[in-house]
Amino acid sequence: MNNFTYANPVKIIFGKDTIKEIAKEIPQGSKVLITCGGGSIRKNGVYAQTVKALEGFEWYEFAGIEPNPHYETCMKAVEFIREKGITFLLSVGGGSVLDATKFIAAAACFEDGDPWKILSEGSGIKKAMPFGDIITLPATGSEMNNGGVITRVSTEEKLSFASPCTYPVFSVLDPEVTFSLPPRQVANGVVDAFVHVMEQYLTCNEGNSLLQDNMAEAIVKTLVKEGPKALSDPNNYDVRANLMWASTWALNGWISCGVPEDWATHMIGHEITAFYGIDHARTLAIVLPGVMTVMKEQKSKKIIRLGHEIFGIQGDDVIEKTIKAVENFFEKLGVKTHLSDYNLGDEAIEKTSKRLAERNWKLGECRNITSDTVKTILTLRK
Ligand code: NZQ
Ligand code: ZN
Repeated sequence: MNNFTYANPVKIIFGKDTIKEIAKEIPQGSKVLITCGGGSIRKNGVYAQTVKALEGFEWYEFAGIEPNPHYETCMKAVEFIREKGITFLLSVGGGSVLDATKFIAAAACFEDGDPWKILSEGSGIKKAMPFGDIITLPATGSEMNNGGVITRVSTEEKLSFASPCTYPVFSVLDPEVTFSLPPRQVANGVVDAFVHVMEQYLTCNEGNSLLQDNMAEAIVKTLVKEGPKALSDPNNYDVRANLMWASTWALNGWISCGVPEDWATHMIGHEITAFYGIDHARTLAIVLPGVMTVMKEQKSKKIIRLGHEIFGIQGDDVIEKTIKAVENFFEKLGVKTHLSDYNLGDEAIEKTSKRLAERNWKLGECRNITSDTVKTILTLRK
């Protein structure tokens, strides 16, 4: 196990009817800006609960944050914050709204030129506005991590950032608000969380981090068991609660303590989303089986362990059978796993690998996934 430091300051408020708790968490006298998306919160009652909880506060609203949030939209929010003298941000929506809010919180305090540098050059975030959130889509783990992913429409770039300054002060996780999710988004969330665990578990690591491996498998077992149930029995509160909590733990930093991390699937997936607008999770469902196949030598021990612990696979060809089991799990959720399912093919392979070559990125836990390897991976997934 490698050395590590772990500090996660986020206060989690979990359970039924917890939105009203925000009134106790937001400092009295704050000038609050609700950030939200395209309107789902107005339809599912979250907006009404939020507004009720904000009685007594001066608050404003910035709506219209897109899925795969746009830098251009975030910068409009920064202008609004300066105009109104906002002092506290409240993200109400899915991971896109929360990622945008994290970036907005940092961009509003950025004193080193164009805040895009935070993403394009990894320019350090030195300060950020305080913010909390009501997360309405279990998927990203953004509610308990300090990262985010922002898209610049003008250059078709989707880049990630992270900083100790961009943890939420609090996150409200009310499983009841997820009942209104369309099946597509339920499935996306399960796949995204599943792949988050794979990025931190399915590596060259020889399994000398027993607790992290067991914890990772516990999260995956929960996703594999409850994911299909959330689709077949959508109003089951306990299923939603288990899924919500598992998605948070898939990317709150805990299972990555002291172990190597891959993230190649995400880095390749982000380019496909940036170029073609395919849902984040669906790009992962395409790419992961390809990464597992091409990198199976260095990942063999952990693929075999995954097959045994999660899918009960023993005997011959465990690696191939486990990769197939992962693909089948995604397909069973209704998430297609080949480029051709999304009308993509050689052009997408060319465009994606060319961009990674231009950036000279070496991906994966051993930094040995080059743009040529990416071409091989994606060709397997046509
Ligand atoms: O915009 P609204 O109207 O709110 O509708 C949203 C959106 O259309 C809808 N939705 C959200 N909660 C709902 C709901 N509809 C009904 N009922 C609810 N309770 O769902 C749609 C998708 O929402 P979005 O926020 O885009 O989805 P998700 O939470 O999966 O976030 C995806 C974004 O997170 C980034 C991805 O790259 C992508 O941009 N990620 C963030 C990470 C992080 N911060 O750690 C890591 C991840 O790997 C990921 O990259
Ligand atoms: Zn993800």
